[in-house]
Amino acid sequence: MEIIIQPSAEAAAGIAAKVIAKLIRENPNAVLGLATGSTPLPLYRALIAMDLDWSKVVTFNLDEYIGIPRDHAQSYHTFMWENLFQHVNIREENVHIPDGNADDIPQFCREYEESIRLAGGIDIQVLGIGTDGHIGFNEPTSSLASRTRIKSLTKQTCEDNARFFGSVEAVPMHVITMGIGTIMEARQNILLAFGANKANAIAGAVEGPITSVNPASILQMHPVVKVCIDEAAAGELERAEYFRWVYDNKPDWQKI
Ligand code: PGA
Repeated sequence: MEIIIQPSAEAAAGIAAKVIAKLIRENPNAVLGLATGSTPLPLYRALIAMDLDWSKVVTFNLDEYIGIPRDHAQSYHTFMWENLFQHVNIREENVHIPDGNADDIPQFCREYEESIRLAGGIDIQVLGIGTDGHIGFNEPTSSLASRTRIKSLTKQTCEDNARFFGSVEAVPMHVITMGIGTIMEARQNILLAFGANKANAIAGAVEGPITSVNPASILQMHPVVKVCIDEAAAGELERAEYFRWVYDNKPDWQKI
């Protein structure tokens, strides 16, 4: 894992944006795995400002709520179009977001996995992290080998997301999420985390044991992971000084 600690969320997201921009410039057919929530917003703002050619880029989102309409203000479909897709020249047919209204959700999940495979696999997967260590909506104790499927959210995640829905009762309890096994097959993962409320989850993911209790800790087993975080999210890392020293002493060509 490469731990990149930056003074602000914008600076940390800016590094992730440069990595993704390089991929898109080198491979116009890049396949991106994308995330929702507050965390990726500065990344998407940076990518929009870069004026990249998205015409052949293919995307797969991590997750979606079950049972709210696709055009609901808080659906991840709405989120992605408002915060990224409508600002770039991506083709609608190249956008994949789980369908939380599919008639047969287990079948839809199998097909989602198959579409990722047919697209050639994900080149870079963007991840946020829950305060409980979840990636996608793989809540603690999710199988580390899981594939795209239905999950029930924890009370903690419903409380964390109540800010978007106005009340905790209004947060849908069920979701479709890529599995941890799916995420681990991406060729590269970029985990973003900002703010002191993520510091504990980040410390567990980076320095703790590999355990399904902190699902992000499985990324220790992935060969290409960048963890781009701000100072507050790095606040509980015991080796923060070492991570800063390593990054500050990298040759420029190795930084992206
Ligand atoms: P947040 O959510 O970016 O809104 O904090 C992260 C997550 O739940 O993965």
